[in-house]
Amino acid sequence: MNDPLDIFYKRRSIRKFTDEAVSHDDLTALLKAGMAGPSAMNAQPWEFVVITDEKTIERLRHALPFAKMKPTAVICVLGSKRMQKNKGGEKFWVQDCSAAAENILLAAVALGLGGVWIGVHPIYLFEMQVKRILNLPKGVTPLNLLFLGHPDEEKEARTQYEEGRVQWGVFPGGKDQGEPEEDEPAFGMNAREHDLSDL
Ligand SMILES: Cc1cc2nc3c(=O)[nH]c(=O)nc-3n(C[C@H](O)[C@H](O)[C@H](O)COP(=O)(O)O)c2cc1C
Repeated sequence: MNDPLDIFYKRRSIRKFTDEAVSHDDLTALLKAGMAGPSAMNAQPWEFVVITDEKTIERLRHALPFAKMKPTAVICVLGSKRMQKNKGGEKFWVQDCSAAAENILLAAVALGLGGVWIGVHPIYLFEMQVKRILNLPKGVTPLNLLFLGHPDEEKEARTQYEEGRVQWGVFPGGKDQGEPEEDEPAFGMNAREHDLSDL
């Protein structure tokens, strides 16, 4: 019987791709999955650049030291100050855009595609290279590049579960019951002040 969580275990970084192009329909489906992601205050502080022309892909491969694979499509996930729906995006854009990126990688598995996350932000030099090559406008920051294509390698599905990384309940020595202490700082106290009240 299939585990309903299989897709999470099957998602592995795929770095070898066939020459077959990713269809426009599949790329649109990936973007829909990306934009289905959660974001703080639903600010959706993201935009996406889709690259399928060989020349631009070649330039990106050339410019980034850890991006030597040959994908047939690239999605660049951008943090977008100019399109965020509210100020939630200003503080949380990395988390919001990372959720969108992971959704895209998982959707790729569902469609029989493969992909790998190429980190860009916060390495200034990488950001500059991507900005230059993609001619990015003001108000956007490239978080990463998702190199995508039809897989030409197979990787074992797996979790990396380690019980030792999980603390069930509070760490020993603390108080795990009862009301908060009088002097305990409570998140939310100054929520209005910070405009994060709807998080
Ligand atoms: C923030 C981030 C940046 C990454 N950057 C690169 C990269 O530049 N080049 C690369 O080949 N893989 C990159 N990866 C992929 C990781 O190497 C990979 O996820 C990790 O080794 C675990 O393997 P798996 O994806 O197969 O589970 C990156 C992953 C993340 C989350």
